[in-house]
Order: sequence, then C-alpha cells, then structure tokens
Amino acid sequence: MSKQKLRIAIQKAGRLNEDSLKILKDSGISIDNGKDQLKATARNFPLEVLYLRNGDIPQYLRDGVVDIAILGENVLVEKGEDIIQAEKFGFSKCRVSLAVPKSVKYNGIQDLDGKRIATSYPNTLNAFLKKKGIKADLHIINGSVEIAPNIGLADAICDIVSSGSTLFKNNLKEVEVMLKSEAVLAVSPLINAERKAILEDLQFRMKSVLNART
Ligand code: PRP
Ligand code: MG
Repeated sequence: MSKQKLRIAIQKAGRLNEDSLKILKDSGISIDNGKDQLKATARNFPLEVLYLRNGDIPQYLRDGVVDIAILGENVLVEKGEDIIQAEKFGFSKCRVSLAVPKSVKYNGIQDLDGKRIATSYPNTLNAFLKKKGIKADLHIINGSVEIAPNIGLADAICDIVSSGSTLFKNNLKEVEVMLKSEAVLAVSPLINAERKAILEDLQFRMKSVLNART
C-alpha cells in the first residue's frame, strides 16, 4: 500500500473557496479546517488541500507542485491556457466584462479606442481588443479595479462580474461581456500514475454529487 496523497489547490479566500470545500464535503471527504492554515489533510481520503491565491494556481499546476485544482475558468484563460480542464462544475459562475461609468454614453467597443482601461485580466483583454481592432492603454492592477474610473486612473475597467454589486456601488455599467466563466477542475501535466488513480476516484465521487444536484 502506498502512502501518496493527491494534492489539490483551492482558492484561499472568496466565493470559490466555499464552493470548492462544499463539493469536497459533499463527495464524502472530511477536511480539518483551521481557518488560518494554508495546508490541510483529509481524514478519510488520500488528499492534501493547499489554499492558494487564485492567480498563482496555474503556475503551481504547471510545475507539478499541486496535482489538481478547483479554479475559475477565467484564471485559466488568463494565465493557464496550456493547462488541461478535466471537468466543468457549473458553480461559481461569473463573467469577465468591460464596464464604464454610468454617466458615459456607450455606443460600442469603438468608444474605447485610445482610452485607458484598468484591469487584472490583461491577456484576456488584449486578446479581445485585438480581435475587435481596438487599441487601448491598459493599467494593470491586482484588486479593487472598479475604483479606477472614480479616481481618474482609467476611462473603463475590465474585471470579474458576479452579482454586479461591485459595479453598482461604483457607479459603473457593464458594456461588454468578454468571457463567461465557471469553476473547473484543472489537472497538472506532471501528475503521476498513482495520484491519477486517486483522482479517478475523486472525479467519480464529484460527478455523482453534480448529477444529484441537477
Ligand atoms: C471580485 C472581482 C469583482 C467582484 C465581482 O473582487 O474582482 O470586483 O468580486 O463580484 P460582484 O459582481 O458580486 O460584486 P473581490 O471582492 O474578490 O476583491 P479584489 O478585486 O480586491 O480582489
Ligand atoms: Mg474586485
């Protein structure tokens, strides 16, 4: 009997964290959850859980530091297009969208030509703008992107929209949906055979949970 454990990365904090822990729990896996711990072990399944920053997860998968991850498709599109998606979960849905101040009249994407756009999704945004033939000045920031127009840093923003409440609170309106995203299961290209067998067991359990939910 081998003692290998499958190493799964999940988001350290935020909505995806809760949804990810829930599917593991519904799959019959108990994890001891000290809130400040960055690593936890399952009691009844060969699984080690690592709580990581969203944006770091693609690189951990690439390097084989973790075997699998539950993360937003949006993160893979932005930073991990080379990484395999083994499953779409159907939860933690969001959009990656462009938004402008409510007071601005928006006629179409051409309005953003030559404008300043604040974003945490430069690759996704650049690909979209290129496809549309628009040149803009990107300001890359890691959080609180929606504040940028109010402080005069940008004319528009590109970020995740889920409930829409952050846009609303910052007097912004969504004008273009660039990407629709949901939670996915991503797999490291370096996963070994033994851990792959554990993954198959886990995936079987998760599929049963997802089927029961619909
Ligand atoms: C995320 C995201 C949006 C917001 C969208 O930010 O960057 O700002 O949630 O959700 P909503 O449409 O339901 O309001 P988060 O709160 O994680 O903070 P951060 O941007 O500072 O990382
Ligand atoms: Mg935000």
